[in-house]
Amino acid sequence: MNLHVKLGKLKLKNPVTVASGTFGYAKEFEDLVSVKSLGAIITKTITVNPRLGNPPPRLAETASGMLNAIGLQNEGLDNFLKFKYPALKKIGTEVIVSISAQTKKDFIFLAQNLESAGVKAVEVNLSCPNISYAANNSKKNQQISRAKSFAQDAKATYDVVSALRKKTKLTLIVKLTPNVTDITEIALAAERAGADVLSLVNTFLGMAIDVETRLPKIANITGGLSGPAIKPLAVRMVYDVARAVKIPVIGVGGIMSAEDALEFMIAGARAISVGTASFVNPKAAIEIIEGLKLYCKENKIKDINKLVGKISL
Ligand SMILES: Cc1cc2nc3c(=O)[nH]c(=O)nc-3n(C[C@H](O)[C@H](O)[C@H](O)COP(=O)(O)O)c2cc1C
Repeated sequence: MNLHVKLGKLKLKNPVTVASGTFGYAKEFEDLVSVKSLGAIITKTITVNPRLGNPPPRLAETASGMLNAIGLQNEGLDNFLKFKYPALKKIGTEVIVSISAQTKKDFIFLAQNLESAGVKAVEVNLSCPNISYAANNSKKNQQISRAKSFAQDAKATYDVVSALRKKTKLTLIVKLTPNVTDITEIALAAERAGADVLSLVNTFLGMAIDVETRLPKIANITGGLSGPAIKPLAVRMVYDVARAVKIPVIGVGGIMSAEDALEFMIAGARAISVGTASFVNPKAAIEIIEGLKLYCKENKIKDINKLVGKISL
């Protein structure tokens, strides 16, 4: 049975990856899980300089999901290359480094330094909902303005991805936000700009309030919703995007089981990422690999790629 899938120049031993920000830098999980069995590890997003992230509380549980506003806490590029990457590359599976920046120049700086260090693929996080938050609290004007992420604008997406494409040979996986009216428009812009792969979705912008204190449950006021609550929304977006583009798509959003992963693949995802599920069960991604094998065996599927986009309509 063939479980290998291709994402740009990367060949994954199976389609199961762990989603950025939900699996640390993998070493944290090594005692619990056979991390090398994963198709790939997608690291927590790194930025050029270290970031402390947002003030706590940064997580809140919701019905069938979780809100987070971590704010891209990370140790920065230099510390990542010195202290995290050497151990990651010894694990024996593909390592995809998630990167974020607020300028094209910084995106290029990150990509070129990672490429020089031997990294083969980056996930370009154009979609974090939890940074650059700005509220206008004047009494007259209670309007809240939030900085847009690159992936909320087709032209901005095109500009960043094409700038990166000109400067690096890395496999470019572009991670999209669901917080848009038409995600296919953004996906097409990323593809035209030279993305090798698309990853969707990041979290949905949400909010929760404690009625006793009347305070937002998250200090940042808003946060990103993840977990089973978002799965049908994410499956729909993967379905739409996979039919619109020619490049492979990684499906992300509420995948808790092999059945969930299969739904995304049948909708058109070549690979999938497991996120919030790892908080509930650190072995979730590994169990999903086993479940995919079983499904292929029971359904006499010799090559998992044959399932991709094979929805019966
Ligand atoms: C606590 C937490 C931190 C996250 N950090 C990042 C991040 O640094 N970069 C990123 O691209 N996505 C980040 N995400 C989003 C996930 O990678 C994923 O896209 C999202 O959670 C949807 O998948 P899920 O429902 O399986 O969790 C984070 C999600 C959570 C829950």
